[in-house]
Amino acid sequence: MLLKPRLPHIILLFVFFSYLTAEAIPIRGREMLISAPSPYAVEVGKKVLQEGGNVVDVAVAVGLTLAVTSPYFASFGGGGFALVKVKKHPVEALDFRETAPKKTHPDFYTIPKKLDSKNGGPAVGVPGVAAGLYELHKKYGKLRWQKLFEGPLRLAYEGFQVSGEWIDRTSKAKDRFNYEGKKHFFKNKKMYKPGELLKQPKLAKFLRSYKKQGPKYFYQDEPAQDIVNTVKKNGGVLTLNDLKNYKVIWRKPMVHKFKNYNVNMMPLPSSGGIVITTALALIEKLNLAKYEPLSVNELHLLGEILNRSFRGRALLGDSKFHKSPTNFLLSENYLNLLSNSINLSKATNLPPLKDAPPAESKETTHYSVLDKDGNSVAITVTLNGNYGSGLISERYGITLNNEMDDFTTEPNKPNMYGLVQGKGNYVEAGKRPLSSMSPTLVTKNNKVVLSLGAPGGPTIISGVLQVLYRVLVSGMNVDQAIQAPRVHHQFLPKKLFIDNGRFQPATKKGLKAKGHVLTEKPYIGRVNAVYLKENGELEAAYDSRGEGAAGGL
Ligand code: DON
Repeated sequence: MLLKPRLPHIILLFVFFSYLTAEAIPIRGREMLISAPSPYAVEVGKKVLQEGGNVVDVAVAVGLTLAVTSPYFASFGGGGFALVKVKKHPVEALDFRETAPKKTHPDFYTIPKKLDSKNGGPAVGVPGVAAGLYELHKKYGKLRWQKLFEGPLRLAYEGFQVSGEWIDRTSKAKDRFNYEGKKHFFKNKKMYKPGELLKQPKLAKFLRSYKKQGPKYFYQDEPAQDIVNTVKKNGGVLTLNDLKNYKVIWRKPMVHKFKNYNVNMMPLPSSGGIVITTALALIEKLNLAKYEPLSVNELHLLGEILNRSFRGRALLGDSKFHKSPTNFLLSENYLNLLSNSINLSKATNLPPLKDAPPAESKETTHYSVLDKDGNSVAITVTLNGNYGSGLISERYGITLNNEMDDFTTEPNKPNMYGLVQGKGNYVEAGKRPLSSMSPTLVTKNNKVVLSLGAPGGPTIISGVLQVLYRVLVSGMNVDQAIQAPRVHHQFLPKKLFIDNGRFQPATKKGLKAKGHVLTEKPYIGRVNAVYLKENGELEAAYDSRGEGAAGGL
């Protein structure tokens, strides 16, 4: 029987047809665009823009909103990095990474007894978000600080509809929650359903005072006591003094000249700048641009480049405590050695670097804001794992990080991302753990043309590198660049990680034939990016590997 075309059938046919011919089409704008992991955050950011806010005002309002809507990765109990470029100022990097509490030391997780660096009190580092967002605004904001709170406060107080991702992450973490977490994120002891309203009156109370008093309230007032009590009750050593002494640090970004661009990256304690610089140098040495984008040869070479770029990571650590061999790792000699060791027809491995340990072996988010004049903020924030330590502060419902697991907690023990790190990253009081977070700003003629970053532990580096390369070299639009399949290699384990379900069987076969041991991962970074085209048009996209939104004017 012939199907009589009725409206639903036509719609279905249209949906089916457009799926087959689907093209990645970015959001376009003329004034300023935002790419962030929550539609609520993009809406709040857009409102701040309409009220006359600059990129920093918008980014801070987005950050405050994510602390309400996305407590699994963007809470005030976490830390992060920002790259910022405003008007005539040079690109600057703000480090608001968590620090190790005073009472910790290199043997903290092993002597006198084994402690857990992933769950509960011992996992928590001194948080940096409340100081970081304030500092960014103080230095570069245009609107009044108080103006940025309208949206986030309303969402905390009146509630927001929880999403599928919120439910997924909350149900995965629920068995690690302390008693308060179970109360805060459950409705009459039951999991919320998609679309139900989550109201956070305790967090709203915190936000109201933070709005009036700034970070002093977080670090020296009731919230500080609340956090210390929660951590102490759960076996940690964080003190009021640790919180009182927390400081953000302005740093000079690492800059690498790539084609006609300057790629501005996060320096130590992020390993991102050093690893991405290495990879870009190898891309140029091997003239990767001559290989067809996404072909077996190109992906093979990218895997080999990443493998070698991560090799030196085990020698890195916070520069205040450890002298990292950055000059050696970025020297022509060493880069030539790496590039000469790459073989087009088969996957090969180098031994670990001398001084490296004998064997080396999620939750974060990124948002970017970019305007038509090339001003931009790229911020990556994290609690480290999903809902961090699983601790939620008792009085204010602030989710606390487990960033201590990013240190080398025991020699040769892989952290939760399979990275076995070196001596330079041992736990020391006041030190910041080595990170892979890589907020990145690409500039040309002193204007930002590409603003990007990602969550995903070490896969952040691979995600940022590949999206940057796809936009600047492969000629993809920013959405195509983000949705394209990606590879990841972190030197050890000796595996090429590939995006789950995004590779053609023939490509996998071709990579295996070159000797790669393939492992599928749910995602290789989850990139948010905004691009300013030569014709002045802005393009933004978010990653279909997770929830997100892009928008603006
Ligand atoms: O700083 C780092 O490298 C990690 N704490 C980042 C963790 C992360 O990206 C988790 N996201 N899925």
